Amino acid sequence: MSAGAGGIGVFDSGIGGLTVFQALRAALPPEEHLLYLGDTARVPYGTKSTETVVRYALEGARFLARRGVKTLVLACNTMSAVAIEAVKEHMPFPVVGVIGPGAEAACRATRRGVIGVIGTAATIRSGAYAHAIACHRPDARVIARACPLFVPLAEEGWVDNEVARAAAGAYLSDLRGSGLDTLVLGCTHYPLLKRVIGEAVGDGVALVDSAEATAAVVRGRLEERGLLAHRAAPGEDHFFVTDSSDRFHEVGARFLGGPLQRLEQVAISE
Ligand code: DGL
Repeated sequence: MSAGAGGIGVFDSGIGGLTVFQALRAALPPEEHLLYLGDTARVPYGTKSTETVVRYALEGARFLARRGVKTLVLACNTMSAVAIEAVKEHMPFPVVGVIGPGAEAACRATRRGVIGVIGTAATIRSGAYAHAIACHRPDARVIARACPLFVPLAEEGWVDNEVARAAAGAYLSDLRGSGLDTLVLGCTHYPLLKRVIGEAVGDGVALVDSAEATAAVVRGRLEERGLLAHRAAPGEDHFFVTDSSDRFHEVGARFLGGPLQRLEQVAISE
């Protein structure tokens, strides 16, 4: 059996899903193995067609299934928006996405029922957030907007400078005065730009990051099914990437506050 078998798969198009990984580490017993897959050779997914994202999502899910995971977290809004049904259909274990938990958290946070959603072009085009919000709060007004430049800005580490501020202002400043009181950061990278996004939409708007809400759902799902780890030894973290691991190592260590121990470059395409 491979190392990390019986663990939890965490799959993102690149590095952004580490926000979800971190929330899972905090929410789950320390005995759980976490296996993170970042498809760094093919990121971004958010600019690609639904067919392509579904194909990539299935390839990544199968890779983690071969490693023996007991549940899979799609730690990527784009995959969660357009590919979760296909992945659920093909995988024998529970699959959790970030959109349902994020939408629920937004419905809890809103006071006036005016909720903004920002994400990649694919996520916004799918309407998945608007649909999930309507299930919990049919009377809510949803204002959705794609902010594609935020992903490269976050990758570049330009999260709090004049370029990031100009992009946030161009995308979001007209939302001031729209009655918006809650904004869903519907992309794994956007929490890194929280400060400039908050400045652009103004005080009094709650920014919802789905990572913690997703981790709580994963924990609940494992508890319900009696799947929480019961081993004596501490859990291990395994990181897999599809492109050279140097940059992931550097940015990942910044993200997680320490060097990544088990990081491997792998091929997942079939
Ligand atoms: N992980 C993607 C998301 O949350 C952002 C990066 C990409 O476009 O692949 O939508």
